[in-house]
Amino acid sequence: MSEQLHGPTWVFGYGSLIYKVDFPYLEREVAAIEGWERRFWQGSHDHRGTPGAPGRVVTLIPSPGVTCKGVAYRIEHEVFEHLDHREKNGYERHAVSVTLQDSQRRVGGILYVARADNHAYLGPAPLPELAAHIARSFGPSGSNRDYVLALADALRELGDPDPHVMALEALLLQS
Ligand code: SIN
Repeated sequence: MSEQLHGPTWVFGYGSLIYKVDFPYLEREVAAIEGWERRFWQGSHDHRGTPGAPGRVVTLIPSPGVTCKGVAYRIEHEVFEHLDHREKNGYERHAVSVTLQDSQRRVGGILYVARADNHAYLGPAPLPELAAHIARSFGPSGSNRDYVLALADALRELGDPDPHVMALEALLLQS
């Protein structure tokens, strides 16, 4: 699937793009993509951590058969300038097929994914280690803990209690 270069485009958000909407959009719909799963494997130097002490934020890994819910926004192409800047620490645009929940439409869209070969990638670790790392991290956008708690709340609202995110939330609430 190739990226459309002009005109309004759908962007699929699965992490902070669900709950921190600091950009204009034309339409918004709860949406889903197939074959991807969230993981807190990406380092954050500029939002929930610092270059010397990166936080951990969510990326997607290919996962056949898994549905990932999020929010799709139809945006003017100019808005990519803002989004590219916001997601600049290792994320790249990737074209996907998105199913819009309410209108039951299937549209082409873009998501931001941080792959294993980017400079800020941290990779897998046992859940208690991920939680401990997140619990001590803080950056210009606030605490790393708040990122997880806000995402967990937003996913419950969407009806997608992602087990990876919920398990991290539970560990953070215990600590
Ligand atoms: C997204 O929300 O879609 C990308 C990851 C993030 O910014 O948290």
